[in-house]
Amino acid sequence: MDLGISGKSAIICASSRGLGKACAYSLAINGVNITLNGRDEKVLESTKKELSELAPHVKVNAVACDVSTEEGRQKILEACPEPDILVNNNGGPPFRDFREIDKNALIEGLEMNMITPIELVKSVVDGMGQREFGRIVNITSVSVKRPVVGLDLSSGARAGLTAFLSGVARSIADKNITINNILPGFFDTDRLRQGVTSMAKMNNEGENIVADRMASSIPAKRFGTPNEFGETCAFLCSKQAAYITGQNILLDGGLFDSSF
Ligand SMILES: NC(=O)c1ccc[n+]([C@@H]2O[C@H](COP(=O)([O-])OP(=O)(O)OC[C@H]3O[C@@H](n4cnc5c(N)ncnc54)[C@H](OP(=O)(O)O)[C@@H]3O)[C@@H](O)[C@H]2O)c1
Repeated sequence: MDLGISGKSAIICASSRGLGKACAYSLAINGVNITLNGRDEKVLESTKKELSELAPHVKVNAVACDVSTEEGRQKILEACPEPDILVNNNGGPPFRDFREIDKNALIEGLEMNMITPIELVKSVVDGMGQREFGRIVNITSVSVKRPVVGLDLSSGARAGLTAFLSGVARSIADKNITINNILPGFFDTDRLRQGVTSMAKMNNEGENIVADRMASSIPAKRFGTPNEFGETCAFLCSKQAAYITGQNILLDGGLFDSSF
């Protein structure tokens, strides 16, 4: 399917690895010029090279910075001042007992997973409106719908983002701008593998045993692939997806057990 977005420009935050990188790949393959971001310059440059080889006809920028900072966001916007597509992504707060989350940690979590994406939406949305095209995708988590004990801050900040932007999405829907959230369950990325490693150490078990147990808890009996995630993101950014807005798209192999 031709997604009708060739020649558009996209900012994909936190995209040197994992789910953000997969979104960048799928958009680049569809002819979108890409602005990548990550903090580790070496990893970022290697992703830029990979992407440029994969999609030689698109322009690939790479901005090494922390997207959670005002300065970082300015650098990203300077590299791509008129994005047609914004994919909001970031790291997530670590697993912690909620009692250990002091006020500073609470604010840091909100900065990462709620304030940063909202600030970026504020910066890009009026330009999108003038150009009569805009696609915003937020990478959130299945934990917005399904509690994960120990990820309370991540869940709370992302639920706050979802609620905040659901009204915003309706207020700009007539400008051909959509805002949607993709909620990953378990996707096979570095982050997931780090979780497997620490759980294996904690329980004194093999990593394969832990990974198999996690995968068998999913009705699909496997982890999602980053490519499956990236392709869904690209579709939400397509011309055809203009009538999908304010939605939470679960990508979890059936993990969230609900009929509606
Ligand atoms: N994978 C899953 O199954 C899953 C499930 C639910 C939710 N999620 C959420 O989805 C998001 C992406 O997860 P992932 O699995 O793709 O993680 P990942 O494999 O660890 O990749 C994270 C990416 O974000 C970049 N990054 C992290 N913090 C950043 C910052 N402050 N500024 C700029 N770039 C930053 C990393 O590069 P640098 O480290 O070099 O900055 C890397 O490119 C996370 O918020 C995660 O909590 C993932």
